[in-house]
Order: sequence, then C-alpha cells, then structure tokens
Amino acid sequence: MDRSSSFTFPDGFLWGTATASHQVEGENRNNQWWAFEQQPGAIWYGDRSDAACNWWRNAEEDFDRMAELGLNAHRLSVEWSRIEPEPGQFDHTALDRYRQMLDGLRSRGIQPMVTLHHFSEPLWLTRIRGWENGASVAFFRRYVEETVRALADLCDCWVTINEPMVLVAQGWFLGNWPPAKSNFIQAMGVVRNLLNAHAEAYHAIHAIQPAAKVGYAAHVRLFRPMRPDSQLDRYAAGLKRWLFEHVWVAATSDGLLRPPVGRLQRDRRIANSYDFIGINYYTRDSVRFTPNPLALFGRESFPATGELSDAGRHGAFSHFDPEGMHQVCCEVNNFHPGVPIYITENGVPDREDRFRPRWLVAHLQQLHRAIEDGCNVRGYYHWTLVDNFEWAEGWGLRFGLYALDPKTQIRTPRPSAHLYGEIARANAITQQMIATNLNNAQTISS
Ligand code: FCB
Repeated sequence: MDRSSSFTFPDGFLWGTATASHQVEGENRNNQWWAFEQQPGAIWYGDRSDAACNWWRNAEEDFDRMAELGLNAHRLSVEWSRIEPEPGQFDHTALDRYRQMLDGLRSRGIQPMVTLHHFSEPLWLTRIRGWENGASVAFFRRYVEETVRALADLCDCWVTINEPMVLVAQGWFLGNWPPAKSNFIQAMGVVRNLLNAHAEAYHAIHAIQPAAKVGYAAHVRLFRPMRPDSQLDRYAAGLKRWLFEHVWVAATSDGLLRPPVGRLQRDRRIANSYDFIGINYYTRDSVRFTPNPLALFGRESFPATGELSDAGRHGAFSHFDPEGMHQVCCEVNNFHPGVPIYITENGVPDREDRFRPRWLVAHLQQLHRAIEDGCNVRGYYHWTLVDNFEWAEGWGLRFGLYALDPKTQIRTPRPSAHLYGEIARANAITQQMIATNLNNAQTISS
C-alpha cells in the first residue's frame, strides 16, 4: 500500500461493528419491546423480532465473519431482561452466555465494548412505570453492578445508556415506541431519571473497575434551519438541538440540570460522568418552523434535490451528509477539548447496497479530516454487521454489511462488507477506494 497517498488512521484505531441485544439475539420475550411487537400496527408490516439474528444461540458464526473481515472491535449490548428476569433475581446462566460471547470476541482479536441499556428493559420494570418511576435509578444501578462484576475481567469499555434522548423522544413525546406516550412533562421526568441512572452507573462501574472507560452514546442529528435566512427556522432548529443534544451532553459535563429538564441546579454526581463520548451519527435534519408547540415549533423537511436512502421521506436516516461527520466530531471536541471520541454508530439503510460503499468512504474521509483537525477519535463502529430487527421499522430497513433472510438465517455479504474489511485491514482509505467508490458513484435521489 502506498501510504503517502492514503488517508491513514492512527495506530491502534478500532474498526468495528455495532449491535443491540434485542435487535440480534432473538426470543427476547421478557422485555417491553417484545410486548409492543405483539400490538397490531405497532411495527411496520406487522413484523416481529422473532429469532432476530439468532445470536443468543449462535453469535459465534457472526464473530467469525467479523474476524474474516479483519475487524478488531465490536460494540454489543447485554439484555437486562435476561440478566435480571425478575426484580433482584439474577440469571447466572445468562451472564455466563455473555461471558462466552465476550470471550469469543476476544479470542478472535476483537475488542468488546458493552452497552448496558440499549432501548430494551425487563417487563417487571415496565409494569411499575419504567423510567417514569424514580426507583428505576436504583434498579438500574443494581443491575449494572451485578453485570459489571460478572464481566469485568473480559471488558473494560462500557456504554451506560444508548441514545437516551431518542428513547425519550420516541417513547414519551412522539409515541412511536413503548410506552407510546406523548407527554412533555413526563418526558422531562424521564430525562432526569436517565441522567441520574447514567451517573449512578458511571460511579458504580468505576468502584468495581477503577480503570474502566465509561461513557454514553448520543445520537447527534445536526438540526439545521431549512431556510438559513429565516429567523423562525433558525429558532426551531436551535430549540431541537438544545433539547435533543445540548441538555444531556452539558449536564453530564457540568452537572447542571437545566429547564425544562429540571430546576437550574448542580448535581455533583452527574458532573464529569464520562471518560469518552460515543457519537451515533446518521444524518442531518432540516427544520422548518411551524406554529405547533406539539412539534416543538419545527417540522423536519427535505430539500427537493437532496439524496435520500431507503428510509426515503420517513426521515430518520435519510440524508447523505458526510460532512456532518466532521462537524459533529469538531463540535464535541470544541465542547470538551481532547475528549476521547468513539463513533459508536454510523450506517445507512440500503438493501441493494447502491449507496453504502460511497457512504462508507465519504464518511470515513470526513472522520479522518476530523482527526487531522485535532479530534481524539479512537474508533469507528459501523451499524451494522448483519441486517437486524430495526425497532418500529421491523425488517423494513436493512443496515447490514451482510444481507439476512430472517426465515432461513442465511447471510449474504454485500459489496460493502468487502470494502469495509479492506479499510479495516489497511487502517486507511486509499486513493484506489476513493477512485472506485466516490467518482463512479451511483446516485439515489428522491
Ligand atoms: C440507532 C439505534 C440502533 C439502530 C440504528 C439504525 O438510533 O441506536 O439501535 O436502530 O439507529
């Protein structure tokens, strides 16, 4: 490889994929998502997670795929409802299965990062109002302590909570996810409980494993005004950024709860409660002002000429905005200079893989640019290895480097799998990759 003409990443850079327990394990019957899937109309096309990617029985074949690609990292989550199926009762067989998985990754040269809460939780917690209930904080801490004690010799890198603000927005504001509510006051109470739960977990993990690296994964969306010269659009976009991103990130840094999340007050336990920041970056949102307070005064809109993925005008993962990758890293770095950053998720729904190779090269070039500009980015976890159960979109959106037929469990590599493997093995984006994937790119347009 001619290093001089490549975008080479720092030595020891982590190249991985990311998954979540409920999306891949299968038969997770004891959590609130399984219950939600049984409700008519809850999931696109009436899909269900069912056996998902069959990881509970056999994750190891997919670990082999990661190793074949040359990946050296993987982010997975553990399922609270398996580990603690009833309050205070811990299932050591489940913890042993996770030990086996972590061991399986490590023996293949793949460094694990473990998420402790990735959207799913046990039904017993849901029955007592889940995260609306202040007691959830202590329950979460107890579960985290038990889990980390059982797994600490196999993992030292932990994500406490995945995308807390997505959980709140979908579950308590938009009402698309369980518990399917639309209540701003309750939503703000849930944010407070999640902040406290995250902080409790942060301190509990360090008490058990002082050298652990602990952080959270924030979904950063870069809300932008649809019409930059419109003051109202700027206001609406700014409000969304403030609520969706700033409130959480700032609180975990300075410990200040801010209105509307709480009365302005400092909480020492929440302050400085991360060793790294995980960024999940997918897309930008263009926001157009609307007088409707229930939409937080802004509607997500699409520029007529924009390129859209398979998500189309559904919105959540639609736009192609690789420069946003550079921007989010720089913003996080400006906020907290030098903080270790992991891209804990980035990917695109693209069943035919027309878009993904270009997506990968373009986003990784921008990530490289962020590193050159001084951001301390340590690793990149692509979402995801194999098509999996995509929450309310069911099997409708395909994010995998490998296509999956959930009925037969047959996997087929998409061209992107080979490309991502090449990138990981080279620890670089080469001129050849750019020439092949950026210049002759096929465009998907609305
Ligand atoms: C993120 C979620 C992840 C997956 C991707 C596509 O917001 O964290 O579980 O659904 O989107």
